[in-house]
Amino acid sequence: MDYFQINGGNRLKGTVTISGAKNAALPIMAATLMVDGETVLQGVPDLIDVRHMCKMLNKLGVQTRRDDDGGLRITVTDEMNCHAEYELVRQMRASVCLMGPLLAKRKKAQVALPGGCAIGDRPISLHISGMEALGADSELISGDIHLKAKKLIGSEIFLGGPFGSTVTGTANIMMAATLAQGRTILESAACEPEITDLGDFLIACGAQISGQGTPRITIDGVSSLRGCEYAIIPDRIETGTFMIAAAITNGELTLQNCRPQHLLAVIDRLRRVGVIIERQDDGVVVSSARRLEPVEVSTQPYPGFPTDLQAQISALLCLADGNSMVTEKIFPDRFLHVAELNRMGARIRKESATVMIEGVKRLVGAPVMASDLRASAALVLAGLVAKGQTQLDRIYHIDRGYEQIEKKLNAVGADIARLSE
Ligand code: EPU
Repeated sequence: MDYFQINGGNRLKGTVTISGAKNAALPIMAATLMVDGETVLQGVPDLIDVRHMCKMLNKLGVQTRRDDDGGLRITVTDEMNCHAEYELVRQMRASVCLMGPLLAKRKKAQVALPGGCAIGDRPISLHISGMEALGADSELISGDIHLKAKKLIGSEIFLGGPFGSTVTGTANIMMAATLAQGRTILESAACEPEITDLGDFLIACGAQISGQGTPRITIDGVSSLRGCEYAIIPDRIETGTFMIAAAITNGELTLQNCRPQHLLAVIDRLRRVGVIIERQDDGVVVSSARRLEPVEVSTQPYPGFPTDLQAQISALLCLADGNSMVTEKIFPDRFLHVAELNRMGARIRKESATVMIEGVKRLVGAPVMASDLRASAALVLAGLVAKGQTQLDRIYHIDRGYEQIEKKLNAVGADIARLSE
């Protein structure tokens, strides 16, 4: 198993190019199941999760091929198989996004329920009730959801849940409704830029969708979708992670190919911490003052502060001059990074879904363990600034969602070695 050996203490300086967004690419790749002809996707990052989605699509009769220029060519060649198996689904929850396209195009879907996950329970009941509202019958058999419908019929569907809307649920139902008969209105839909991107992709394939990026999405069903060429948006979570990398090392990074308008809540918090963020045409320049101010952060659905940057900003606030408070409102159990950061000298105390972070003068390198994707990123950030050496185990978590993170960081001054046990 690979691990990172990080020698901390270097200021990062230079330019980083942000990759395409994982959480936009995965549902868009799933949506190609509904498309006739070839789709060419630009900007799909080379990640474990993306390879995994390719593997799942291959099993479902879809050919995937990378061009030399990085474009991902996708063509459906066989529509017989409708089963996304547990063995693959449990490795990547985003596999549930196959449900809507399979049901819409092949009239049936058998998708394993993904089960629990390091960041919480993560039910998908809203996905299933949405499919039922479109006319599908559903049955749970041996851990798989079986859905079938002779035809899907547009409906009004409310997507709010106890923790806000559901991102992949909105994606799933929007995809299914694209080929349904008549009009579907999604109320309390997720507004994340990845949903807007999926809507824009489907429109480029011939779908009739409006309101994507707002809580009310209207979809008028069409009979078919055709292949197109489409570029995925830049990854806002990778962007935010590199912003924090600049800040935590007192460095200065220019981030290219990013959309700061997708990160207004993050930029707001970071500026309050004392980070200087200047917008440029195609990106931002991020640098930090010596002294970091403590702040309060509360995660929210978009456009609020993203849960996917909660662990990373917590790592930064460990070094603030005072006490910060971070509350997790999307995944109340998403705090597996806390005990690991404390191993590095942080002073974080957890009380239900909130952590109190007492700023310390410095972190100290230690062996730590990655538990999930964003927690791993937080530990890399802590390792960059910690005194001495940090060994981060189980980095397959980070490879799921960050494209060549150690190469990108080393190119701007970090000292991270990828080693094998
Ligand atoms: N929820 C329900 N019922 C449902 C579905 C969700 O109560 O049927 C709850 C969840 O338990 C959670 C909240 O609603 O409390 C939001 O969950 P959501 O369904 O939006 O999460 P998701 O779609 O499974 C996506 C991202 C996550 C990201 C969340 C929140 C993808 C592939 N995944 O997950 O990304 O944290 O939205 O923004 O888009 C990551 O990239 O590290 C990651 C975990």
